[in-house]
Amino acid sequence: MTDINSMSGRFSKGNAEILSDFNSSIRIDSRMYAEDIEGSLAHAKMLAKCGIISENDCEEITKGLVSIKEDIETGALEIDMSAEDIHMFIEAELTKRIGEPGKRLHTARSRNDQVATDIRLYLKKRAAGIIEGLFSFGNTLQNIFQQHTETVMPGYTHLQRAQPITFARHLQAYYHMFQRDIKRLENAVEIMDECPLGSGALAGTTYPIDREYTAELLGFSAPTQNTLDGVSDRDFCVEFACALSIIMTHLSRLSEEIILWSSWEFKFIDLDDAYSTGSSIMPQKKNPDVPELVRGKTGRVNGNLIALLTMLKGLPLAYNKDMQEDKEAIFDSFDTVEECINIFVPMLETMTVNKENMRNAAARGFINATDCADYLTKKGMPFRDAYKITGAIVAYCIENNCILEKLSIEKYKEFSEIFEEDVFKAIDLDECVKRRN
Ligand code: ARG
Repeated sequence: MTDINSMSGRFSKGNAEILSDFNSSIRIDSRMYAEDIEGSLAHAKMLAKCGIISENDCEEITKGLVSIKEDIETGALEIDMSAEDIHMFIEAELTKRIGEPGKRLHTARSRNDQVATDIRLYLKKRAAGIIEGLFSFGNTLQNIFQQHTETVMPGYTHLQRAQPITFARHLQAYYHMFQRDIKRLENAVEIMDECPLGSGALAGTTYPIDREYTAELLGFSAPTQNTLDGVSDRDFCVEFACALSIIMTHLSRLSEEIILWSSWEFKFIDLDDAYSTGSSIMPQKKNPDVPELVRGKTGRVNGNLIALLTMLKGLPLAYNKDMQEDKEAIFDSFDTVEECINIFVPMLETMTVNKENMRNAAARGFINATDCADYLTKKGMPFRDAYKITGAIVAYCIENNCILEKLSIEKYKEFSEIFEEDVFKAIDLDECVKRRN
């Protein structure tokens, strides 16, 4: 395949094979073929509009690029994995197909502003896909929590039963996390919505180009403002990687809970057989592999974020080949998050919720003790005194293997004369939950 050396007059030999392999990014960036073609179509159109290439050349280039895209999509054209990158492959293929005009396409452009444009176009689309996925995730959560506004469960702090809540409220917490994740992605898209084309290699171009026009054709809100920044900015990769890491963090926390809830110790939920796996040796096992894998994959998405930050931190302006490493990391984060969302939705939709077990767990563990203390406080006792007396009642119950609801009013009165029959309503589980809505 054509390497730059063989295209250039500067070199007397082609690349050593080992260098070609090392240098090549096409296995990673071939997925940007459509964006590369989209960018080139706009660039050619602009060149013709500005009189830099002829209308005829532009037409040839356009036809050629459109046919390449079609052929890649139908499988008629196989992307050559020995090419240096997708940009070189498409340009070479274009010239092979249309000859002379193909060689004019790269006028007033560098691969540096070309690749910077392609990644932006590609990641914008991917971000839109994740946003859509998060919306459907949100809908799924909403459908589930609407069915559980009366499902009482223990709320935890320190993984110790703390106060009674509903399962709806618990899931709603995740719903809000994912709503924020959507905003984070939208914000990242807005910040990166500028077109680097025209930055050239680093110092712009001497041709009378129209950057506003190309930016508009490609759906960017404006051209980038500084040419060095245009080609060397990868902030958006970092920002997306960070937003994706936060999504994974949220998914991972939910995964952790699902793993706990599906254990024999909790038995709050059952995952559907279609979304669980067996053990090769222990016949009784039903394992929550899906949330475990999601929790595990969070590590590599976080790793990608650190890889990107580290790759950038020492780079002088403007483009450096180090930056070719951006794609593998950010693509992997997008792929992983998309995959995780896609499997999480049906897994949640098919899981069964064991209301009874949730309620039973809420009925033990004295999670209405705060309500008992509040009861005394509302009758005039200072909260600290009420807190201490309730603690003593709890200690008595633990010693006598009893729960607050089952103590007699006479017993309550031994702790404080303030207690009346209405204490039982005050500590009733459903009442406790309702009071907090
Ligand atoms: N494959 C390269 C990348 O992804 C394209 C840019 C190459 N530019 C250069 N000056 N070598 O970064």
